Amino acid sequence: MKILVLNGSPKGEYSITLQYVAYIQKHFPQHEFRIIHVSQRIKKIERDHQAFQEIIDEIRSADGVLWSFGLWVLCVPAQYMRFIELISERGVEDAFRDKYAAVITTSIHFYDHTAHNYMRAVCEDLGMKYADAISLDIIDIMQKKRRDDLTIFAENFFKAIREQVATSKLFKPLAFSDFAYQPAEPEVRIDTRGKKVLVLTDAYDGNTNLGKMIERFRQSFADEIDVIDLNDVDIRGACLGCMRCGYDYTCTYQDGFADFYNQRVRTADIIVFAGTVKGRYLSSTWKTFYDRSFFWNHTPSLAGKQLGYIISGPLRQNPNLIQILEASSTARQHANHVDIITDECENSAEIDALLQSFAERLVSFAEKGYVRPQNFLGVGGHKVFRDNIWGRLRPIWQADHRYSKEHGLYDFPQKDYKIRVLTPILMLLTGIPGIREKYYANVKTFPAGRLKKLIEHVD
Ligand SMILES: Cc1cc2nc3c(=O)[nH]c(=O)nc-3n(C[C@H](O)[C@H](O)[C@H](O)COP(=O)(O)O)c2cc1C
Repeated sequence: MKILVLNGSPKGEYSITLQYVAYIQKHFPQHEFRIIHVSQRIKKIERDHQAFQEIIDEIRSADGVLWSFGLWVLCVPAQYMRFIELISERGVEDAFRDKYAAVITTSIHFYDHTAHNYMRAVCEDLGMKYADAISLDIIDIMQKKRRDDLTIFAENFFKAIREQVATSKLFKPLAFSDFAYQPAEPEVRIDTRGKKVLVLTDAYDGNTNLGKMIERFRQSFADEIDVIDLNDVDIRGACLGCMRCGYDYTCTYQDGFADFYNQRVRTADIIVFAGTVKGRYLSSTWKTFYDRSFFWNHTPSLAGKQLGYIISGPLRQNPNLIQILEASSTARQHANHVDIITDECENSAEIDALLQSFAERLVSFAEKGYVRPQNFLGVGGHKVFRDNIWGRLRPIWQADHRYSKEHGLYDFPQKDYKIRVLTPILMLLTGIPGIREKYYANVKTFPAGRLKKLIEHVD
């Protein structure tokens, strides 16, 4: 059986995930594994059609495709996403049709589910038979149990190919619309009240719905706002994963991205990201922006700001992307995720009204310094980062560690001394049947009663 491994790690043969693939290879010597370092070679693949074609030929002759990558900012690395874009741009989807596919990733499990959803949807869109996926921690391979899991995963994949098993589908194909938005001039213009507004886009073209939405949003304000096209920024490439930034936020790239991010993006109070749905994400240009912003590591470099999105295309059909966008504002940035405005209602007047109210809310929240309390996306994400930065990854993420200490992000439950004293006492007391009965009888009413009293006393 020929298994084609599409290595999505920009680190090429030094990919952690690829070592897990090597383990599979060792266990199944009867199969032929062909590994292609897609992300590392992306510039050549993009430039040289022959190099791209050779990969496509390899796919055609393979029995199964193993998508292998490390998580990169809630999804796949930008280089991998670019490769996926090239498949449809160059019209070679048929090479993937009916091929069995599996996905293997390593990560610290921060939004590995959104990356997996993305990859599964891509496979299904390509007409592949999605057999299985496995999400492993960076050091899982050190545990026998996890190595056994990996073997079962691989066995299952090969069995699916051998026996041509039926595979399920979870994602409906996306339906794109040709609705053309026709904006009208706003009747009222909003005073930015001294707040700096920035729109970032990957395509500022006045003829597209996205361009018209950006323009209409811009006109909502009485003052000039900044609109920056990422294509005008000196970005020489996507993140390479060298992690040099971990020590002091210094990126190895010598291009204009870090200055642009620090001087133009971080100085704004309100940032609106504007893009068009492309496949199961936005464009890989957007992914490059997000990945390169990682030179701030896990430090929320846009904390406290008002963030929102203007999106053209079928976002409502893609809840996974909605979650990625929300988590990018909240879990990643500790910012206020204000809203996402799309053109999907297919009603120009309604889009005008949405953009106007969006602009109003952004300024009003910025004035009040409002950041909505985090939901599970942020609360859960915080704990994953906190434990990793405090623990095993501290030597790499030293800048994050300093930030976490200074900003009270090390909020471990062990530090809540009142709870530490009270809990064992309550545990002991509730061991006594009479007290236990009373305690549980009050469990329903006590919390609300305590809050009622508090409300009486606070302003
Ligand atoms: C730029 C960058 C972004 C990352 N983003 C995430 C992430 O969103 N979630 C996560 O769990 N791990 C993230 N990681 C950790 C990697 O997924 C992890 O180190 C993985 O093992 C790398 O795999 P690879 O060596 O095969 O590329 C990130 C690492 C880098 C360098």
